[in-house]
Amino acid sequence: MKDEAITRSWLANADAWTDIVRSDGIESRRLGTNAAVVSVIAGLAPDTLLDVGCGEGWLCRALSGRGVACTGIDASPRLLAAAREAGGGDFELIDYATLADGNAVSGPFDVIACNFALLGEDIVPLLAALRRRLSPRGRLVVHTVHPWQACGDGDYADGWRSESFAAFGAGRFKEAMPWFFRTLSRWVADLGEAGWVVESLREPPDPNTGRPLSLLVVAAPRAA
Ligand SMILES: C[S@@+](CC[C@H](N)C(=O)[O-])C[C@H]1O[C@@H](n2cnc3c(N)ncnc32)[C@H](O)[C@@H]1O
Repeated sequence: MKDEAITRSWLANADAWTDIVRSDGIESRRLGTNAAVVSVIAGLAPDTLLDVGCGEGWLCRALSGRGVACTGIDASPRLLAAAREAGGGDFELIDYATLADGNAVSGPFDVIACNFALLGEDIVPLLAALRRRLSPRGRLVVHTVHPWQACGDGDYADGWRSESFAAFGAGRFKEAMPWFFRTLSRWVADLGEAGWVVESLREPPDPNTGRPLSLLVVAAPRAA
């Protein structure tokens, strides 16, 4: 139910999201998260990238500009159309359940990135399936809200929350989005259950406050 509400929100909010990303309207992205994820991925020197939940495609555009062959997948036809129009990769309409189930994308990929795109509770089947799309030197890059910042005044406990997008302007986004808040230990546990070992963690800082803007995880497949 919640997963359906997530994908529904990205149908309703596709145009508002495209506008805000392309106008550089998200402060944390301006302050450092975009640069951080591009730098981490570029540092892995991939020839190929799979961008899971690619949205309007900015990450593929940034990496294709550095010579990486990019594939983006997303469940929102409108976001995918915006991505295709702007170019920078092959963009395919595939949802996570389909990706987890079969061979919807071929690969293999040197980097598989999930940039603020793992929003549901049960992410283990998807993460496990992504291992099978990885090249021998491949890595998974998961970029997400920093749990200690995103927790706000709520309990520091795994659970569903709701994003109204009000911070981006009243009435701009049409539908609130449920999202599953994960503690740091839950992130590591879910990655481990899916067969990944955390290789490094980065916490890009807000240059004004020094507080972390996000959590950036690089994971390697656990040796058989
Ligand atoms: C916060 S946006 C991030 C988009 C993009 N990665 C970026 O950095 O701008 C989350 C994206 O995940 C996609 N998404 C969420 N759940 C999905 C699902 N079950 N299958 C495919 N895409 C999904 C949404 O359509 C949306 O584009």
